[in-house]
Amino acid sequence: MKILLLGAGGFIGANLTERLLRDGKHDITALDIERDKLDDTTGGAKLNYVEFDIRGDEKKLEELAVAHDVVIDLVARANPSLYVSNPIDVFKLNFTENLKIAEFCVKHKRRIIQFSTCEVYGITAARAFGKSSAEFPQPFIEDETPLIMGPIKNHRWIYACAKQLLERVLHAYGIEEGLEYSIIRPFNFIGPRIDYLPSEQTGNPRVFSHFMNGLLYGTDIKLVDGGVNFRAYTYIDDAVDCIVRIIDRPDACNREIFNIGTPENEVTIKELAARMIQIFDREFRQPGDPRPRVVSVSSEEFYGKGYEDCDRRIPNVDKARKLLGWKSEHDLDSVLFHTMKYFVDKHRARG
Ligand code: NAD
Ligand code: UGA
Repeated sequence: MKILLLGAGGFIGANLTERLLRDGKHDITALDIERDKLDDTTGGAKLNYVEFDIRGDEKKLEELAVAHDVVIDLVARANPSLYVSNPIDVFKLNFTENLKIAEFCVKHKRRIIQFSTCEVYGITAARAFGKSSAEFPQPFIEDETPLIMGPIKNHRWIYACAKQLLERVLHAYGIEEGLEYSIIRPFNFIGPRIDYLPSEQTGNPRVFSHFMNGLLYGTDIKLVDGGVNFRAYTYIDDAVDCIVRIIDRPDACNREIFNIGTPENEVTIKELAARMIQIFDREFRQPGDPRPRVVSVSSEEFYGKGYEDCDRRIPNVDKARKLLGWKSEHDLDSVLFHTMKYFVDKHRARG
């Protein structure tokens, strides 16, 4: 198969590219505006890389889509701080620009694998009805669970809303024009190259990288609103394994939405910090390493006005198990150990 991988230079894209090149079954074109993570994963491997901004030359983008059998679309702003600080940019890239790609696939009858998000589920029904989601675990099911977002003034939801609208448009093109698509809803993947740490590059990355930064550089480990909300973490290699099955099984996956996640790996963010500190002390600590403070900060202080958190998101992964025979292999400690090891090794190598 000829595969066009848009956003191949990002966290998921670089790890997926590495695996696809290793398998050697498909011809891959990796497209992005940056390639550092690709260079880190693929080393010297021969890579067909196209440096291209999808907001640019539409004709070239269309030609690229036509030249491939499958388009995998990972391009997005995928960092919660941006949903608050740059909501219009998030909407334009994650919906408007991505819609163009979907429409090229409709026009030229190409299969599309679209990366959406578990954030489309929004908040839990428990929270919506004023109950504590800590007491009501409700796994999210792809084709059943209602999608509940917060009020407009909490513009964090623009990301989830843009992704949800794109899912609805793909579904509609499937019905009206026979578009062949699969939609993936990732539930908090982590692993090597997830983000740059704040001490390595300015910006506000995802929670793992903030906590890792604290462990390596001594910056505060900040629990936003006390870290009471939950996430369920999946190791990137497990996630990539599921994505590869989706790529290789077009018939089983046509017009299907897949949760990719690991319900067993659920923790509160406060527990996540405690586990990371424990693993660091046990496996990696060396004399002279800093001991970060763990502090609580308000979400407004951390992200600015307009943030509202997802309280709990437990994936139901029955569909991936039934249709693809997939199940994640790494438990939480193993996910954290392998991811932390990558960053510790990089840090020590720099001296
Ligand atoms: P990422 O930010 O690491 O990767 C996105 C990539 O898109 C980057 O390499 C970036 O350079 C590229 N990109 C951005 N704008 C571009 C443009 N205009 N033209 C070309 N390339 C551009 O994010 P990720 O974690 O790898 O996520 C990939 C996808 O999966 C996103 O759609 C995201 O919303 C979704 N997702 C990821 C997670 C997760 O756990 N990582 C969770 C939910 C959803
Ligand atoms: C995650 C990913 O980070 C996004 O890239 C992705 O788009 C999104 O999932 C998704 O599923 O689509 P989220 O889990 O909310 O989003 O983002 P994180 O930044 O990793 O935050 C997780 C939790 O940790 C949140 O409760 C946040 O408030 C908290 N947090 C974050 C802290 O307590 N401290 C920090 O330093 C950073």
